[in-house]
Amino acid sequence: MKTKPPLKIQTTTLWEYPSQHYGAEVQGDKEYAGATPSYVIWNLLQRYTRPGDLVVDPMCGSGTTLDVARDLGRRALGYDVAPHREDIFRVDARKLPLENEKVDFVFVDPPYSTHLEYSDDPRCIGKLDALSREYYDAMDQVIRESYRILKDHRYMALYCSDSWQKKKPFAPIGFRLFSLLERYFQPVDIVTVVRHNRTLKRHHYHTEAEKGNYFLRGFNYLFIMKKEAPERGKDSETQQRSPLQSPERTPRSHKSARRRR
Ligand SMILES: C[S@@+](CC[C@H](N)C(=O)[O-])C[C@H]1O[C@@H](n2cnc3c(N)ncnc32)[C@H](O)[C@@H]1O
Repeated sequence: MKTKPPLKIQTTTLWEYPSQHYGAEVQGDKEYAGATPSYVIWNLLQRYTRPGDLVVDPMCGSGTTLDVARDLGRRALGYDVAPHREDIFRVDARKLPLENEKVDFVFVDPPYSTHLEYSDDPRCIGKLDALSREYYDAMDQVIRESYRILKDHRYMALYCSDSWQKKKPFAPIGFRLFSLLERYFQPVDIVTVVRHNRTLKRHHYHTEAEKGNYFLRGFNYLFIMKKEAPERGKDSETQQRSPLQSPERTPRSHKSARRRR
């Protein structure tokens, strides 16, 4: 068996770990297409949670978040429209069965457009093209639910990739989801996660990419966000963002972005 690199807290915004799983065990399911690299979740939980905290993954897939949380002594709840194992509840991430402000950390790794067939469930967001408005409307509801269940001053992270398919325009999913996240949360940081998956090693993929003058996806975004509830906010900028109260939300203003520079 190949030796895996040591699992350690990352200190820069470029995260690399040339394996899907850390240690001798497997977190989640190695056969599950679209599983999150477990070291990503491990790093997040090390930094943003404490033992005993409640972690929620509303799109839990093969259960990677549950396994990492349990390894680290955190409590965890996983939901998915197509549960892959018994400890994941069949729930639509757009309507979570949890009270407001009960959760210490939320991790979300959603479908990125229609690349993978996750299930036959018509509620699967992986059936929505990321070039369509419907995909972002659905993801807005997932993000809104994540905000609702999260305790104030606690963190969430969303892991995603952009999408490019032959004969279609490029879909900058990362930037678009980030702008949705910013309507609710305070940005903490943006990390680039370099994937070392087998697909990227296939020679003909690279020849085709060169011939067709397009790029293969080489990294994922990891957006780390913090909840700062507006009613408890200290300044007027925070008071203006009141996502749960006003249905016609406006993204955090460009004016405030300019002010920070
Ligand atoms: C990228 S996978 C998650 C991978 C997971 N983090 C893991 O490590 O295995 C995306 C998941 O979102 C789920 N999903 C899609 N639409 C959903 C919805 N409306 N509510 C809950 N889960 C959904 C899919 O069934 C799939 O399991």
